[in-house]
Amino acid sequence: MNVLILGAGGREYSIGLALSKDKNVENIYFAPGNGATDELGKNLDISDFSQLADFAEENSIDLTIVGPEGPLVEGVVDVFELRGLLIFGPTAKAAQLEGSKIFMKNFLARHNVPTANYIETNSLQDAYRFIETLEAPIVVKADGLCGGKGVIIATSQEEAKKASGEMLSGSSFGQSGTSIVIEEFLDGYELSVFAICDGEDYVVLPAAQDHKRLLNNDEGPNTGGMGAYAPTPLVNDKIYKKLDERVIIPTLEGMKSEGMPFKGVLFIGVMVVDDEPIILEYNVRFGDPECEELMPLLKSSVFDLFYKASTNDLKNLKIEFHDKYAVGVVMASKDYPYKSSAMAEILIDDIYHEELNENAHISYAGVTRGEDGKLYASGGRVLVCVGIGESIAIAQERAYMLVGQIHFAGKQCRTDIAYQAL
Ligand code: AMP
Ligand code: GLY
Repeated sequence: MNVLILGAGGREYSIGLALSKDKNVENIYFAPGNGATDELGKNLDISDFSQLADFAEENSIDLTIVGPEGPLVEGVVDVFELRGLLIFGPTAKAAQLEGSKIFMKNFLARHNVPTANYIETNSLQDAYRFIETLEAPIVVKADGLCGGKGVIIATSQEEAKKASGEMLSGSSFGQSGTSIVIEEFLDGYELSVFAICDGEDYVVLPAAQDHKRLLNNDEGPNTGGMGAYAPTPLVNDKIYKKLDERVIIPTLEGMKSEGMPFKGVLFIGVMVVDDEPIILEYNVRFGDPECEELMPLLKSSVFDLFYKASTNDLKNLKIEFHDKYAVGVVMASKDYPYKSSAMAEILIDDIYHEELNENAHISYAGVTRGEDGKLYASGGRVLVCVGIGESIAIAQERAYMLVGQIHFAGKQCRTDIAYQAL
């Protein structure tokens, strides 16, 4: 089978890496890919959806997998499906679950899925009125996609009012912020739960935990994610059952009844408060860096999972996971997440440690291949060191052993990934 993967991050690298080991898969293409995905397949310099569909047609692509939310929200799935091409991901209509926080919150309310109390508004007056009924912290969210930056946790009513004003006037997030959601702050622990859906049926992957803040002990600014691990022992069968019954099933039935059956990855951002899973948000794609830990935990064919999900055939899938844990540590560039940093050559020590070679690997993200053939750190999150082990502690140790072998000027990483589980 030939597979085309859309995207350029560590998430897409990890999907490509898993597929490159899958006996069902012959050729892998990335559009656009990054400086390291060319080791797993071929990078394509195409971004126009129709041209991507042309490529898929002309090169006998059996399945296209979409990594990031951007092309999903912009309708790449619709373009492929109109031309009878198989693609994994939701249509533009279904992708509103991530593309519009107002759509998502109203959908949750319509289908009685537990979520934080909120209002959605484009009126500053209504915003002020609601803020005055809440105790700080207060959460203010821009409606549209903001590259993971559109959520402000205000520590006072005044700060919440200021954030609302800046969003509504368009000065902080442009058009994405001219409607907003204001909601109560939920105090608990956060989980990333992924349901792979085919429009009808679904399978849930082992729950993961991301570390969104830049610094140890969850301090510093929010980032795209500085590391993750799975499965997390913070989830028990009771919570999984509540997620099934109160969240996933009503969501999939709701999407179907509203004429937009959901196919693809339903990424459920959950806050567990007093053992109750409350939904923070939906995304319509894999988390990054969560995907980098989940892919190597799959024992059954990764291709089969995506293929059956895309052909409405998950009921015939036998999914199996390794009885192991994965910990991923993000290595980021010097000025991440504030601004981009100068390119820096990546040097990796020869690894003679057999155990490390077999149980740890790199998922490359913000990297560029120089004309000299060398790999350079060029993005904010440069790569993810993934360790696998029989326990979280062993997986974590291996991930950090690998971190120790990798060098580039200005590298930074957290040293406490998975701390909540240890
Ligand atoms: P979102 O993009 O909606 O997931 O928000 C980004 C991050 O902000 C989440 O991962 C949470 O850590 C935090 N957050 C969002 N909404 C809330 C809330 N209602 N209560 C507490 N934290 C929140
Ligand atoms: N790691 C969180 C995200 O991908 O949004």
